[in-house]
Amino acid sequence: MKKFENNKPYSQSSEENKEVIFKLINPLLSQSKRVLEIASGTGQHAVYFAEKMPFLSWQTSDLIESHSGIKQWINSVNLPNILPPLELNVSETQWPNTYYDGIFSANSFHIMSKQNVTDFFKNVSAILNEKAIVIIYGPFNYNGAYTSESNANFDIWLKNRNSQSGIKDFEWCDCLAQEAQLSLLEDIEMPMNNRILVWQKKI
Ligand SMILES: C[S@@+](CC[C@H](N)C(=O)[O-])C[C@H]1O[C@@H](n2cnc3c(N)ncnc32)[C@H](O)[C@@H]1O
Repeated sequence: MKKFENNKPYSQSSEENKEVIFKLINPLLSQSKRVLEIASGTGQHAVYFAEKMPFLSWQTSDLIESHSGIKQWINSVNLPNILPPLELNVSETQWPNTYYDGIFSANSFHIMSKQNVTDFFKNVSAILNEKAIVIIYGPFNYNGAYTSESNANFDIWLKNRNSQSGIKDFEWCDCLAQEAQLSLLEDIEMPMNNRILVWQKKI
C-alpha cells in the first residue's frame, strides 16, 4: 500500500538507500551537466541527489500517475536544478529530444516487463552524449540464480502481483546494453542484495 508523510507519497527504502547510492553516483556524475532519471517514483531520490549535486540538472520522469507526488516533493524544496517530471513510459512514450550525460534509474527493472527493459535499452542510446553513463540500481540475478533467499521470495511476491514483473538477469541486461553500444563500467554490490550497474556509451 502507498505510504504518505506530510501528505507526500513516501518510500522508506528511498530514505534508507539514498545516501549509499549518492556516495557511489557522485563521482560517476561529477562531469555530468544533465541527468535524466527514469521512474522517479515518489521523487525522494531526485530532490536528495539534486541538492547534493548542484553542478548538474536533474530531470525527473515517470508514468503520469506518479507525477503529482513527484511535483509535491519538488515543490517542498527550493532547488533550481531539479526539473518537473516528463511523462515517460519506456515502451510507449516518445523519449525526450534532448541529450543527457547521465541516466539514473532505481528499483525499476524488476517492476518492468522484459519488453520494457528491452525498450529501455533500445531507446536510451539515442539520447546519450558521448561517454554518457547509465546507472541502474536494484536487485539482479547472476548465472540464472538469485543472490539471496530474500531476493527469491521478493521475486515470487513481484510475480504474484504482476506476472510480467520480476528480477532480471544481469547477463541478459548486459547483452541488451552491448547491443545499445554501451560498455559495462562497474557492477557494484550494494546493501540489501542490490547492485549498481554502470554502463558507458561507446565513442
Ligand atoms: C518500485 S518504483 C521505484 C521508484 C523509485 N525509483 C525508487 O527507487 O523508489 C518503480 C517505478 O517504476 C515506474 N515504472 C513502471 N513501469 C514503467 C515503465 N514502463 N516506464 C517507466 N516507468 C515505469 C513506476 O511508475 C514506479 O515509479
